[in-house]
Amino acid sequence: MPGGDPAPGSAVPRALGDGLVLRRSSLADRERIASFHANTLLAPDETPPLDRLYFWLLDMLGGDHPTGRPDDFLYVEDTASGRIVSSVALSSATWTYDGVEIPAGQPDVVSTAPEYRRRGLVAAQFAEIHDWSERQGHVMQVIPGIPWYYRQFGYEYALNLEGGRIAYRANVPDLPAGESDPFTLRPLTEPDIPFLVDLYRQACARSLVAVPRDAAFWRFDAFGRSERSGLASEHFVIVPAGQPDAPVGVVIAARRLWGTQLGVRFLEVAPGTPMVTVAPSLLRALDALGPQAAARTDKTYDAICFELGVEHPLFDALPSALPREIKPYAWYVRIPDLPRFLNVIAPALERRLAASPQAGWNGDLHLSFYRSGLRLHVESGRITAESWRPDHAEAGDALFPDLTFLKVLLGYRSLADVTHAYPDCIVASSAGQALLPILFPQRYTHVWDPT
Ligand SMILES: CC(C)(COP(=O)(O)OP(=O)(O)OC[C@H]1O[C@@H](n2cnc3c(N)ncnc32)[C@H](O)[C@@H]1OP(=O)(O)O)[C@@H](O)C(=O)NCCC(=O)NCCS
Repeated sequence: MPGGDPAPGSAVPRALGDGLVLRRSSLADRERIASFHANTLLAPDETPPLDRLYFWLLDMLGGDHPTGRPDDFLYVEDTASGRIVSSVALSSATWTYDGVEIPAGQPDVVSTAPEYRRRGLVAAQFAEIHDWSERQGHVMQVIPGIPWYYRQFGYEYALNLEGGRIAYRANVPDLPAGESDPFTLRPLTEPDIPFLVDLYRQACARSLVAVPRDAAFWRFDAFGRSERSGLASEHFVIVPAGQPDAPVGVVIAARRLWGTQLGVRFLEVAPGTPMVTVAPSLLRALDALGPQAAARTDKTYDAICFELGVEHPLFDALPSALPREIKPYAWYVRIPDLPRFLNVIAPALERRLAASPQAGWNGDLHLSFYRSGLRLHVESGRITAESWRPDHAEAGDALFPDLTFLKVLLGYRSLADVTHAYPDCIVASSAGQALLPILFPQRYTHVWDPT
């Protein structure tokens, strides 16, 4: 967890007017915060209280969560009733960008009681959260959130979120007559944790942006979550038939169905075992788990949903068994100080330049955001960034309106995609044309949420 002072500003607790007070949570608030969100953080079609949310939040606030702390929440209390009427969390984690560590804050778990909405309570908490995040040394904030809403707080969609493929029961390959499955599943146990840590690292290496997880996180994920938390999962090791001590992979499936589907949250096979040889047995084993998960929720199981992102080795190995594609949504990202962020990730940019046909280029690249901008200074293979102010509308090697540069910076969209979508996104100079696609290539990302 990034260091620094984790306390919100001295302005908390603070009166917000109308008898409302902004406070910071402690362990003593655990149940009422969990209960508040379980009754208000609802999609229009959901009926409170949401158990999956209540138990997830009890875990987050319980003091044993690897990335959540009991004092991670702000809340607004109505002093007349003593009720919580609005609340927002800020958790911290070290993310990585092409292997470079980035301290990041994740505002999350945002809701306001219906009769207190549209009074600026979330806006007030976000101002506090951003200040608090800054003082913890975070260089980026991320949110998996409802459509549009967080744009008003300086966020832009800039990383793939979720997405995957679905196998309906009819797509699960039959076991050929007279054969037995070459691979089976057995429950993951404590001694398997280092293997899982290695496999997770292998999976993250495919992703431009990732969140490392250590053994403590996986131990909590496998053995520490409340059974009724929405994140409660079953962890299995994939083993060759008859060889329970020779693991070749790990698969993690949700304990409960989501609708009618069994969600697969993680799947990785170690080098040396072809995915194509594992996949048919794996699908059959997961298909056998579906009815068990269904029995916990009184639902009917009809499909396996591989929530593994836009790309995954399984999707290439057995495409005919995975006919339905689930398009990803996107993480909101806020980078309050772009030159600072670029200086943090400079080692990754320098590696890209050194490996490119433009290695040895020296000079300045000016990126305009119209009202602000930055200069990338390249000298003897070293890259530094500082802020720069364009003096007219067409100044700069490349021009990016609003927050569109974030999409290119994080590899979410290619430079060509963004210039195609926005007429005022312009690559103006030949240096910009030659260097920007090298420094900021489009790259696949799938982030496993660190909460
Ligand atoms: C979305 C939600 C958290 C907003 O809470 P709130 O306290 O009403 O938010 P605020 O009043 O601070 O909103 C700030 C701004 O957003 C606007 N706003 C509020 N709700 C909005 C919504 N659903 N869509 C768009 N804008 C909205 C407000 O009008 C205000 O803008 P303004 O200052 O220009 O008037 C609240 O409606 C809620 O709890 N919804 C159900 C749970 C949910 O969806 N949570 C988000 C999970 S990611």
